[in-house]
Amino acid sequence: MRLLTGIQPSGDLHIGNYFGSIKPMIDAQDDNEIFAFIANYHAMSSVSDGKRLAELTMQAATDFLALGMDPQKSTFWVQSDVKEVLELYWILSSYTPMGLLERGHSYKDKTARGIASNHSLFSYPVLMAADILIMNSEIIPVGKDQIQHVEMARDIAVKFNNEHGDIFVIPEHRVEENVKTVPGTDGQKMSKSYGNIINIFGEEKKQLKTIKKIVTENVALEEPKEFENCNVYNIAKLYLNESELLELQARYKRGGEGHGHFKLFLAEIMWDYYTPYREKRAYYENNQDDVREILKMGADKARVSAQSVIEKVRSAVGISY
Ligand code: ADP
Ligand code: TRP
Repeated sequence: MRLLTGIQPSGDLHIGNYFGSIKPMIDAQDDNEIFAFIANYHAMSSVSDGKRLAELTMQAATDFLALGMDPQKSTFWVQSDVKEVLELYWILSSYTPMGLLERGHSYKDKTARGIASNHSLFSYPVLMAADILIMNSEIIPVGKDQIQHVEMARDIAVKFNNEHGDIFVIPEHRVEENVKTVPGTDGQKMSKSYGNIINIFGEEKKQLKTIKKIVTENVALEEPKEFENCNVYNIAKLYLNESELLELQARYKRGGEGHGHFKLFLAEIMWDYYTPYREKRAYYENNQDDVREILKMGADKARVSAQSVIEKVRSAVGISY
């Protein structure tokens, strides 16, 4: 199966991104054909500082490689290095009814929250459809908020195919049902827009400071504690195996330890978990030209697929003559 995913370089990656999207994709590399790209054109709708966008793009690429994206097994590139996607974006615009975009939840939510609306925010799903269709993608693993965008890509592809024959593969979304939403420090869904994130690669002292902010119940030290709804426990369990989990539950039930102890424990297991990834990250951080080389190789691979699709599209719509 060909799986495709795009990651916006719009801020530091957090552990919600890791468990909800990065890890499932990295784990899938052995049995699937993974196409993953850094969606820098998409991030322009939220990052207007050019220098910052360039930095975030390299940072996201460095993080992904450190976390196990394998450029030998998978195709990994930066969106803007495969320009054919912009041509397809324009062509698809003529197959995208205004009403389809006007019904977009993401656009409606953002404008309702007072984010200034502009054309790129509105037409964002058309570019996402181009990303998907230009790579003949079959499965798009997404969070629930992105399902509608994949459905729009399907609608646009069906409309195009109805007029021009079977040019596009019709994609399907896949929601990782077994990956629960990772809670943030305040217990809501972890999200950079809520200011409640725990970074993957934060500096040690800062990580501890963030973990100490996790909201917990106010129970006396000696009392037994509830673990099921405890935000610290619910994050810690992502890093523990069955027996470690039972051990932690026993500590909650026993009493005699406060949430401060559990927070320290969480900080430690998280730090240990990411240690090998941090080491790999340090290598790439010091060898950014290697990262650029890998991205270039990925773009070359991705372009093979993009060119074959765009040629068929051009010919179907009469752009090549
Ligand atoms: P954010 O909400 O921080 O802006 P994004 O919307 O950029 O994150 O999400 C990128 C990917 O990470 C998506 O696939 C999304 O489903 C996943 N993801 C983000 N936050 C979480 C979370 N708290 N739990 C599980 N997955 C998440
Ligand atoms: N819109 C996605 C997000 O905000 C990122 C993205 C862009 C994407 N193009 C894509 C995801 C294509 C999957 C497929 O998370």
